[in-house]
Amino acid sequence: MRILIHKDYEALSKWCAYYIAKKIKDGRPSADKPFVLGLPTGSSPIGTYRELVKLYQAGKASFKNVVTFNMDEYVGLPENHPQSYHYFMEEHLFRHIDIPRGNINIPNGNAPDLAKECQAYEDKIVKAGGIDLFLGGIGVDGHLAFNEPGSSLISRTRIKTLTHDTRVANSRFFDNDVNKVPQIALTVGLGTIMSAKEVMIIINGYSKARALYQVVEQGVNHMWTGSMLQLHQHGIIVCDDEATMELKVGTVKYFKDIERHDLENLPEL
Ligand code: GLP
Repeated sequence: MRILIHKDYEALSKWCAYYIAKKIKDGRPSADKPFVLGLPTGSSPIGTYRELVKLYQAGKASFKNVVTFNMDEYVGLPENHPQSYHYFMEEHLFRHIDIPRGNINIPNGNAPDLAKECQAYEDKIVKAGGIDLFLGGIGVDGHLAFNEPGSSLISRTRIKTLTHDTRVANSRFFDNDVNKVPQIALTVGLGTIMSAKEVMIIINGYSKARALYQVVEQGVNHMWTGSMLQLHQHGIIVCDDEATMELKVGTVKYFKDIERHDLENLPEL
């Protein structure tokens, strides 16, 4: 896998946005053959979304022929609840860009039959031609989407119970009250993510240092589900210096050296 270690969150976010915009552009998408982009929520991608909006406003990126699939959604939160992932995506990305409403897909955590909703979501991804690029973040316990420790490494979209740790981490968005954080979510599976043609994971800040270490320097392990990226043909981790605190000096130097060109230059649009 590729590992790009940027100096800080600003640099990382800008690079990710340019990379995504370039992939879309190079894919020459059309209404018949759109570019299919998988998207996360959380604080990690906020900077990337901000930069993507800037690229759109500068006329350097268009989402007219992009279809998106979000990774996950809480069960039981109304879509207009400020902490729902529907609301988050609207606020941080969708209402600022030219993506047609019908091209946006987010699991429906209020569907009457949740299992059916999950299967329909998987079917829709296949019908769209599969995901070209799946962007993700990571939890402090190394989870991708809501694939908590112990998740099947070949899982598909399904209902997941959130761990206490994840609910505590996410309670910062719910008045610091863990009881307000939903206990259940719908999430794409690790198999769903692995089926994407390319997977790019943002890992930033000291709090993610242990997760980055487990994912990069330890083996593939269902207790650190992000480690599954080691088995992807085109996996990219984009991180900042802070997140590398638990990596060996040699590992950091190695990846900084082989990725020197990309660390010094933004993908050309
Ligand atoms: C949640 C989301 C994940 C996200 C993680 C980390 O659990 N389901 O997709 O990667 O939080 O969030 P943050 O980026 O805010 O640290």
